[in-house]
Amino acid sequence: MSYELKSARWIAHDVMHQVVREGDTVIDATLGNGHDTVMLATLVGETGHVIGFDIQPDAVERTAARLTEAGLISRCQLYAEGHQHIADRVSTPIRAAVFNLGWLPGGNKAITTLWETTHTAISAALSLLEKGGVCTVCAYPGHAEGDRERFALMDWLATLRPQEFNVLHHRFLNAGPGAPECFVIQKQ
Ligand SMILES: C[S@@+](CC[C@H](N)C(=O)[O-])C[C@H]1O[C@@H](n2cnc3c(N)ncnc32)[C@H](O)[C@@H]1O
Repeated sequence: MSYELKSARWIAHDVMHQVVREGDTVIDATLGNGHDTVMLATLVGETGHVIGFDIQPDAVERTAARLTEAGLISRCQLYAEGHQHIADRVSTPIRAAVFNLGWLPGGNKAITTLWETTHTAISAALSLLEKGGVCTVCAYPGHAEGDRERFALMDWLATLRPQEFNVLHHRFLNAGPGAPECFVIQKQ
């Protein structure tokens, strides 16, 4: 992958390419159209494991179809339920978690991630992260819930203990209001 600063999601993918190794267990917290899941399933290899969540059955089906087509489905466990249930479903340490917030591209914009459940889910993912493991969060300000979520997220991430986590905020300063942003949290 050549280095090209492009978008919040591109940064999240770049981070995952640096961190995730063959055999890792990782979480895709928002399956959507399955693009992030395919990327993660490729990185963890045959011996790794991807655990995915989405509240929309359509998103889960679309992701499963994409994984099947790519020959990656057997290393994935997909749940048609909210990522706020991560703590109930995952008990093993994870190397990474990917949160791509907002609504499903091409889908119903009324179904979007909400700060309260996002907060529960990211907290659970952070407590599962192994040392050196990383969580990326792409946030989409520019609409009411997206703004609320992004500001609450930023305030909360700034309170994480630096002895425990490093937190980085990527933001394209000249991209105008509403441009996606990427947060990267690494367990020390
Ligand atoms: C921006 S899309 C994700 C895009 C996806 N990662 C991809 O690569 O195509 C956001 C997704 O979050 C899902 N979502 C909303 N609330 C959720 C929740 N509480 N738990 C899990 N997924 C949720 C939506 O249904 C939507 O599919």
